[in-house]
Amino acid sequence: MSWRRALSLHAGALAAVLCLAAPTADAQNPAGPIANPFEGRADVIDEGRSLFNQYCAHCHGTNAHQGERPRDLRRLKLRYGSQAPRIFYEAVSNGRLEKGMPVWKSVLGEDMLWRIFTFLETVQTPP
Ligand code: HEC
Repeated sequence: MSWRRALSLHAGALAAVLCLAAPTADAQNPAGPIANPFEGRADVIDEGRSLFNQYCAHCHGTNAHQGERPRDLRRLKLRYGSQAPRIFYEAVSNGRLEKGMPVWKSVLGEDMLWRIFTFLETVQTPP
């Protein structure tokens, strides 16, 4: 085996490990590269809630009360910890079309989506 091959195998294994560890191994950058621009802004919560109830509630439940786990957005923090903003952003940007989650970024825009996220932060299930 050439050293190049050995090196790339090693890098592959390392990437796999980093990938598995991603939800917790982000101590240097707790918010991740994607952060909520309205973090801590109590004044956008009501608007976020009403946007949520208008656009998301028929699948994710009124005020995010949803008993079906994959759709229960009160579990974002529990599921993803500090990666929750990133996972949220990816889910609303790309959708999960094969599972019935539509693309939202092009419909509502980032500003409205982060208002929704700010509301969701207020209803997270405690760990
Ligand atoms: C037509 C139904 C539908 C609508 C409307 C909808 N979603 Fe979803 N969404 C889903 C489904 C189904 C899933 C679960 C996908 C899966 O199993 O991975 C999901 C998953 C998600 C996830 C990832 C949850 C996780 O724990 O990984 C986020 C974030 C999300 N939706 C946000 C939203 C937001 C914000 C809106 C409103 C702007 C919205 N969704 C509207 C169906 C919908």
